[in-house]
Amino acid sequence: MRTREAMLSYLRSKRPLIAPSMLKCDFGNLHRELELLDSAAAPLLHLDVMDGHFVPNLSYGPMVIERMRPLTSTPFDAHLMISEPGRYLDEYIRAGCEAITFHLEAVPEPVPLLREIRSRGVVAGLAINPDTPFSAAERFLQECDLFLVMSVHPGFGGQKFIPDVLSKVSQARAAAGNDLIISIDGGVSKSTIEACARAGTDVFVAGSSVFDEPNYSAAVADLQTIASVNKTRGC
Ligand code: DX5
Ligand code: ZN
Repeated sequence: MRTREAMLSYLRSKRPLIAPSMLKCDFGNLHRELELLDSAAAPLLHLDVMDGHFVPNLSYGPMVIERMRPLTSTPFDAHLMISEPGRYLDEYIRAGCEAITFHLEAVPEPVPLLREIRSRGVVAGLAINPDTPFSAAERFLQECDLFLVMSVHPGFGGQKFIPDVLSKVSQARAAAGNDLIISIDGGVSKSTIEACARAGTDVFVAGSSVFDEPNYSAAVADLQTIASVNKTRGC
């Protein structure tokens, strides 16, 4: 497992990154799915953990992640859509997650948990729902390595992108500078990713736009090309 510092340099050097969301994969064939993603050279895997309480859906937890861990060397970013995320932190660290992102809406106060994640040598991420204003998160950005802006209401893949959230990406970039890794999650596709990139996004979580495609390598490469719009323009 990479140290937090190594993981941060990895993520910063690979920007823009496409992170396939494993929520949309074929769970009956995880080994094969991970092989295909390795061939597609996806630089980060996004693991959606749902508890049927914080969100109205259940997915998978640390037991599945632990079994996925030896099947690929690609780093895991766990997106915890669960109540009381701090209670389960150890399990996700033990399962091999190199970044852990929890929701601002799931905790009374995010700073202790962000500090705890960082002190355990893991990249600390904070996520906000589409209805949560940027002002609610701004004061915590210096405690975050990664800021995840939800562009759908969390719980399900395949929803429609909410463009209004893009102003939160640009506000976060302006407030926190270039070191902050900004991620967007939900409805990211060939038709929405350019606007996300222009707003200043670094990590593009992609569920349907990878797993609903016949060729994952082509899907990741196409998204990556469009997301690189700032780079190709030299911005
Ligand atoms: C939604 C999840 C997303 C989702 C993305 O709650 O956090 O990661 O799986 O799937 P698409 O890309 O299909 O919106
Ligand atoms: Zn997610």
